[in-house]
Amino acid sequence: MYDVTEIRRDFPILSREVNGKPLVYLDNGASAQKPQVVIDAITRAYAEEYANVHRGLHYLSNLATEKYESTRGVIAKFLGVTDEDEIVMNTGTTMGINTVAYGWGMPNLRAGDEIVLSVMEHHANIVPWHFLRERQGVVIKWVDVDSTGYLDPEAVIAAMGPKTKLVAVTHLSNVLGTVVDVKTICHAARERGIATLVDGSQAAVHMPLNVEEIGCDFYAITGHKLYGPSGSGAIYMRKDRMAEMQPFLGGGDMIREVHKDEVLWNDAPMTFEAGTPGIVQQIGLGVALDYMMGIGMENIAAHEKKLRDYARTRLDGLNWLQVQGTTPDKAAIFSFTLDGAAHAHDISTILDKKGVAVRAGQHCTGPLMDHMGLTATCRASFGMYNTEEEVDKLVDALELAHDLFA
Ligand code: ALA
Repeated sequence: MYDVTEIRRDFPILSREVNGKPLVYLDNGASAQKPQVVIDAITRAYAEEYANVHRGLHYLSNLATEKYESTRGVIAKFLGVTDEDEIVMNTGTTMGINTVAYGWGMPNLRAGDEIVLSVMEHHANIVPWHFLRERQGVVIKWVDVDSTGYLDPEAVIAAMGPKTKLVAVTHLSNVLGTVVDVKTICHAARERGIATLVDGSQAAVHMPLNVEEIGCDFYAITGHKLYGPSGSGAIYMRKDRMAEMQPFLGGGDMIREVHKDEVLWNDAPMTFEAGTPGIVQQIGLGVALDYMMGIGMENIAAHEKKLRDYARTRLDGLNWLQVQGTTPDKAAIFSFTLDGAAHAHDISTILDKKGVAVRAGQHCTGPLMDHMGLTATCRASFGMYNTEEEVDKLVDALELAHDLFA
């Protein structure tokens, strides 16, 4: 049975107060809190198991290497990947997408080639492609969402033309909570020989994943949203696409031999892991993913669905509040605006006084904000440890904000 009270006990920060009120942490879409097992793993790694990895022959270096490398297998299991050599460990989704933009896009795309993006992409899945647009003449084609925030996979497929080389889409919108049918998109792209990148930053937190079934070429995740350390993460890269890539960052670990006039690359995935990595961060990420899998991704998803339904009912009851993103199967992520002139930042400041942490602003999604005709929203994003009581506290705080600005 899913025992949210017990889960909450695993996260020490959840028992603190903010502004004299019990913390109601609803900014999980930005970054999730960390369970004690992750905090302990980080402390233990620095206190007892620390040295550089892949380099030394001494005991601690071997131990740190073993711990660090074991995370690769955990990530593969978490993503449903059979071959862990298809997992590149990195600092998060931004690094993963930039690795693909520089490592695959730069050598393979020419002026006039097209990249298809949805309008609800995070800047991390826009700006690296924009570099290719500016520097190489690559064309970006945008696919809109409808008024509920739904992205029709057929519209994405219709945008795939003879010049399309890549489709890059989010699996779950960080603003609207929309879950995208990436499987249909990726299978259609593969039939046409088009590469696919899925931004899994948000989706990986909320649902069981099998990226081999999704059929994408690249799937990027970020550790700090997955209850793991900031600066941890990974990208799944299919071997046949890796073979088309050039290394992105140069340095130690990604090479086999370096001479004055010749450099031989290390084998993948090391080719894409230059320099001393986030050793302790990745060890912490492995523990965080094991923690999630221990609870069970199906169980987390079921708990969050109940929270979503409850939050939807409570927020729908506020006739002065507009939720952005109303697809029925959305995740428990609610962006909203209030009637009147109240700015999202002011609303979030009032919520904060009540101990309720939400994000306010553009959420790194300029094109989506333009599409919706908004400059900012408040966003309450739920995680595995949130409760219906916290939804009630959010609603109480919103009522206070509405009264103040009415
Ligand atoms: N991408 C993170 C968010 O949506 C920072 O809040």
